[in-house]
Amino acid sequence: MRQRLIAGNWKMNGTGIDLGEVAKFKGLSIPANLTAVVCPPSTLIHRMSELLSEFAIETGGQDCHQLEAGAYTGNVSARMLADAGATHCIVGHSERRVGHGESNELVRSKAKACISAGLKTILCVGETEHERLAGRTHQVVGDQLSESIPETANDRNLVVAYEPVWAIGTGRTAERTQIEDAHGFIRSHCSKLLGSRAAENIAIVYGGSVNPKNSAEIFGTRDVDGGLVGGASLNGDDFAAVLNACQD
Ligand code: 13P
Repeated sequence: MRQRLIAGNWKMNGTGIDLGEVAKFKGLSIPANLTAVVCPPSTLIHRMSELLSEFAIETGGQDCHQLEAGAYTGNVSARMLADAGATHCIVGHSERRVGHGESNELVRSKAKACISAGLKTILCVGETEHERLAGRTHQVVGDQLSESIPETANDRNLVVAYEPVWAIGTGRTAERTQIEDAHGFIRSHCSKLLGSRAAENIAIVYGGSVNPKNSAEIFGTRDVDGGLVGGASLNGDDFAAVLNACQD
């Protein structure tokens, strides 16, 4: 059975006071086939990982630098995230690709850095609305996968997050058929890149306006192995409800 994953991406939200949300996970039971992760801003990773250890929930970073150390003011390396308590790291989020001009090549070197630091990489891919309307979704997502997955990746150190850019933070969730089509395409493309066995085992999660109301339907869609949750992960009760929706 494929390992499922639900990760909460706090983005640039949260200070020490928000760590109180963790208390809402009390009583939550996470089944063995579900990995639950919260990715707070780097400033909270250390404290968050200590608090979450009580709940069998892991902690992740939202981005990292591609190198281990050096004169890169303001950056954080994958090794530093791991040292602070992270077990996972998101790379290639569209807010980095678009907002910070990150290329597939850069995303690939960040994914490689995460893997060498022992972090599981949550690699984000997804098309813009313009690309979808032009019928280019498979081409864009295929190129992102081909060019961003490093040769060290396998189904144990990589999770693919399909996040259509137009569904992020908009309340416009992709339709079930669109999700099924994209996830099926990603799995078959991963088969070419990683081999059929790895592609069968790799977790492919959906992100884009996932919330407690729509999560059960999304997680019940073929080839969907969990979710990457933005806004709804900021509230502990909502994130717990999304985690509960992924337990069958
Ligand atoms: P929302 O859930 O707020 O749409 O964000 C999705 C996302 O970008 C997660 O990485």
